[in-house]
Amino acid sequence: MADIIDGRAVARKLDAETKAQVDAMVAAGLPRPGLAVILVGNDPASEVYVGRKIKKCAEVGITSVEHRMPADSSQAELLALIATLNEDPAIHGILCQVPLPTHIDTGLVLRAIAPSKDVDGFHPVNVGRLSTGTGGIIPCTPLGVMKLLDTVYDDLTGLDVVVIGKSNIVGKPIAMLMLEREATVTVTHIETKDLPDICRKADVIIAAAGAPRLVKGYWVKPGAVIIDVGITRMKTEDGKTKLVGDVAFEEVQHARAVTPVPGGVGPMTISCLLANTVQAAREQLEGTSSDGFSIDWDELPDRSMFTGETSEASA
Ligand code: GUN
Repeated sequence: MADIIDGRAVARKLDAETKAQVDAMVAAGLPRPGLAVILVGNDPASEVYVGRKIKKCAEVGITSVEHRMPADSSQAELLALIATLNEDPAIHGILCQVPLPTHIDTGLVLRAIAPSKDVDGFHPVNVGRLSTGTGGIIPCTPLGVMKLLDTVYDDLTGLDVVVIGKSNIVGKPIAMLMLEREATVTVTHIETKDLPDICRKADVIIAAAGAPRLVKGYWVKPGAVIIDVGITRMKTEDGKTKLVGDVAFEEVQHARAVTPVPGGVGPMTISCLLANTVQAAREQLEGTSSDGFSIDWDELPDRSMFTGETSEASA
């Protein structure tokens, strides 16, 4: 039987660490971390997710402020709210729940959030920092996946990892994180040829294709570790809904360890959001956040190497 990786237990431990960090900040006289959550419209699933995020903030001592806007709000109104929150010193993290109504340009809105407050890690500055191994805020689900793998392995060096799914918010960032840890990464997707054969060579399979029960037992080599990021809501015969992962769970019991759905990656995502909010607050207070990541020309010892001018130092 494969070991079950208990995402709820790992998330509880992370929440306790986050709460301890918040308590220590407050005890040191620093401001309490603050998260603004923006919800435009009343998509039922988004309402549930936002409600959970707000509740979990209270549990770890993060101040949360919910901004609800009607579905017909204009893009300009949303951008104005984000501009105000970017300047608000009591707000260290901003999360704009997606999907947004179709008349709003989601990419533009997400890029309007200051990189230092982008606790989703979606802003191109944070994407670029992750890709270059230079810090920044890591998207919550990929961060959660790494923390789950860390409960199985001390070291990922040299492991063959197959990622199924190439999304900007899960597949690609996971590949970058794995490379940083010296794993050998193959990024695949639903159009990849010979996907079962490629998966069968993997030490670790990360299934993030959003394709229910895609990964079959014969795709998995004995002793592999499987992280199932898929969460598809499906109707059962008796009319109820149930969550189904990307892995045919009962077929992969020859694996070393596997995450269940629900109770695997899902609980980690909100816990990583809270951890990211504390990281963002700390970096803003220390002055080490992404907003200060560009070159400070006045601090350069010799500008001439960038500008081509003859400087006093090199003259
Ligand atoms: N909608 C569903 N999941 C997420 C998430 O992690 N972040 C944001 N901003 N919106 C979401």
